[in-house]
Amino acid sequence: MEIDIHLVPSPPDSDVLLNRTIVVIDVLRATSVMVHAMSQGAIEIFPLLTVEEAFQLAKTFPPGTTLLGGEKDTRRIEGFDLGNSPKEYIADRVKGKKLILRTTNGTKAFRLVSFGKEVMACSFFNIGAAAQRCFEMDRDLLLFPSGDEGNFSLEDTVCGGMLIDLILKKREKGVILTDASRAARFLYQRFEANLLEAFHLSRHGNRLIDLGLGDDLPYCAQTDITDLVPIFRDGVIRTH
Ligand code: MLT
Repeated sequence: MEIDIHLVPSPPDSDVLLNRTIVVIDVLRATSVMVHAMSQGAIEIFPLLTVEEAFQLAKTFPPGTTLLGGEKDTRRIEGFDLGNSPKEYIADRVKGKKLILRTTNGTKAFRLVSFGKEVMACSFFNIGAAAQRCFEMDRDLLLFPSGDEGNFSLEDTVCGGMLIDLILKKREKGVILTDASRAARFLYQRFEANLLEAFHLSRHGNRLIDLGLGDDLPYCAQTDITDLVPIFRDGVIRTH
């Protein structure tokens, strides 16, 4: 098994997509929202690129069956039911609902890798379960941090590095790391004892603090709160 990681979210080649499991990571905060929402009973998530697309899709479902969530410029979108804080996605709000989600980097990342052989959503919330699934699939992996508007993102790369570390703890033999995945693992090891520190050093972590959303940092730094691994297939994220 080879593990590679895109340190910036450039579109992968089609042969890479067709042959690898792709792991999308946006810990602050899109994949944290997705994993949290599904752990609280949301049934489907539609990751979309634009606000307009989200309103259009919502109209195609019976009233009361969907919720619109996400952000634009890190802020809640006017007319949407929910913002982009995982803490909002609790059973009382999301159980049994389809979520239509629009975020800046996270939902876009799913669209960039939509032709992947298997595409999963990973955050610290489900990191152990995601590592187990990658290990069981035993297929080449491409970790795909969603980044920060096309740029490297510290927190997503640390999460990718932790995933690599967990897989290697299960089996070192036969696992090949690229230079990028080796670097991500080293970066994770730097923050292993304090994941929150990586959030506090990151550009996006500081943006969230400046906007009064700093409570999301410790919340998103929690590891292994669920065993669910959401899978993206045919435009929809589900848990099966
Ligand atoms: C994104 O997808 O860009 C992020 O989830 C932004 C955010 O923190 O809301």
